[in-house]
Amino acid sequence: MTRIAIYAGSFDPITRGHEDLMLRSLGFVDRLVVAVTTNLAKQPLFSVDERAALIRAAVGNEARIEVRAFSGLLVDFAREAGATMIIRGLRAVSDFEYEYQMALMNRHLSPSLETIFMVPSLDTTYISSSLVREIARFGGDVSGLVHPAVVEALRGKYPRA
Ligand code: PNS
Repeated sequence: MTRIAIYAGSFDPITRGHEDLMLRSLGFVDRLVVAVTTNLAKQPLFSVDERAALIRAAVGNEARIEVRAFSGLLVDFAREAGATMIIRGLRAVSDFEYEYQMALMNRHLSPSLETIFMVPSLDTTYISSSLVREIARFGGDVSGLVHPAVVEALRGKYPRA
């Protein structure tokens, strides 16, 4: 049986922390579908298509990773993709409450879909997309936090980046 997992998120933009989790998850799944959508609680900087393109640029030629945009419920997308797992990263205790509620709600909606929480590498734990956007906006150096393609894309949005 092929183990397919969904790594879902806003990825606005993808960071080195996201990349770390994607590569780690390939240690226990056969295929990873990176599922990009717009979180209704957030105002995105990049369009869904731009975010998906940046993920593809960052992931490179990894044949076991597929990047797809989706709208609607994550559980519906997961079912359609044939996934049995949802992967989410936990950086700090502050992430836990929201992630726990979402995991239980997704289980309520789709009982056979398991949420797997993963711990990122220590040197990426402090990275978040929102901080990357903020630093780029005010002209700070984000080159150690994101793939070069993302640095370029941020320059396109914020000329000072
Ligand atoms: O990276 P984010 O913004 O924390 O990711 C949150 C995301 C996109 C995974 C979540 O908002 C989501 O699953 N959205 C799809 C709609 C959905 O299924 N909502 C119910 C979640 S219990």
